[in-house]
Amino acid sequence: MHKIESRIITPKNGLRGEFVVPGDKSISHRAIMFASLAKGESHIRGLLRGEDCLSTLSAFKSLGIEVVETADDELIIQGCGLAGLKEPHDVIDCGNSGTTMRLMSGILSAQPFFSILTGDQYLRKRPMGRVIDPLTSMGAKILGRNNHTKAPLAIDGGGLKPVDYHSPIASAQVKSAVLLAGMHVDGETTVFEPHLSRDHSERMLRYFGADLESFSGGARVKGRVELTGREVVVPGDISSAAFFLVAGLIVPNSEILLQNVGINPTRSGIIDILQLMGGSIELTNQRELSGEPVADLLVKSSDLSGIEIGGELIPRAIDEFPVVSVAAAFAAGVTTIRDAKELRVKETDRIAAMCDCLGSLGVDIVPLEDGMRIVGGKPLCGGEVNSFGDHRIAMSMAIAALNATSELKILDSACTETSFPGFWELLNQVSKG
Ligand code: S3P
Repeated sequence: MHKIESRIITPKNGLRGEFVVPGDKSISHRAIMFASLAKGESHIRGLLRGEDCLSTLSAFKSLGIEVVETADDELIIQGCGLAGLKEPHDVIDCGNSGTTMRLMSGILSAQPFFSILTGDQYLRKRPMGRVIDPLTSMGAKILGRNNHTKAPLAIDGGGLKPVDYHSPIASAQVKSAVLLAGMHVDGETTVFEPHLSRDHSERMLRYFGADLESFSGGARVKGRVELTGREVVVPGDISSAAFFLVAGLIVPNSEILLQNVGINPTRSGIIDILQLMGGSIELTNQRELSGEPVADLLVKSSDLSGIEIGGELIPRAIDEFPVVSVAAAFAAGVTTIRDAKELRVKETDRIAAMCDCLGSLGVDIVPLEDGMRIVGGKPLCGGEVNSFGDHRIAMSMAIAALNATSELKILDSACTETSFPGFWELLNQVSKG
């Protein structure tokens, strides 16, 4: 659990620099999980050491997985195969991490032992019915608070059968939980989703040797096919790069090169959105790392205009809407974000949080049931805002403050450790050019 701190950000004149952002959070979780479930040794480089991924790592240690961290920042995991996990001695604490809790629910539902998953005050409020329902339809026995919809979750694992599941939401966590459960049982498990959510699980499971097929509208996995340990190189997190992309665009006289950023098309909606707003972002040095596309991103200050955002762009940029709303506050005209009801059940209600934070700096922003409407282009004043314990709200407001008329104090700022260790130091470094 991070400390409660506050930070003061002063306006800046031009941002400069070339740097790499920390490893991708989604890919790091999956690298730890799939390496643990594989047979043999895996070597992982570039892993994100944020609190969320450390929760996943300690969860697997408590399930009997041996992990060695080398001096040159490589993680070596001795996988135990699909049937090798051991019953944990204690409750597993997922901290703030929805990905840990939901994907672990899928894995643990299939294990022939008892386990309990809990999390911090924010995670215990988030909806877990979305994974409990499909897993229960596979035969899982999961109990939870609030009529079996909230953590702590008690899982009496084993005895599953395959399923064809039509998910009502585009959620990579739901899709992954069901596929991971399906990997442990005889037969084929299929998940259909209304829009394609991030496909890191599908890519990496195939990379580890799973018999998994992606098709338009979903993915199908064949059960009881063992994974084999591999070498994984984790690319930089586009969701972390997003803060510096917006910073580079809204602070005049800026030019920033972000190296080695993952640009998986199911995640790169932020680049499309910012380019549609008129942002100058150039992709160079495109290549592939362990089955994931990566590139260097060059961003330059730009005059932005408001746009309408909805439909398939939403899941492709789902974690970036706090910082998109900051870009919109600096864009001429109106930006409307729709079809994004999911923002209400992230680490916090991100629609309410951004309306509160940007509204208090004088931005004309109104919440919609499934998004927000922002009239941009007026100067933002400084003052004081609360992150509500949400890492992406804290970082988005730090970016807004770079081009405000006076300094901004951000309360509860240490939550950035969840996904972006070193964020404040990096912000300081680019500010000095
Ligand atoms: C994640 C999926 C997304 C995202 C979250 C990480 C993942 O949630 O918001 O931060 O790693 O699978 P959904 O399950 O709603 O797609």
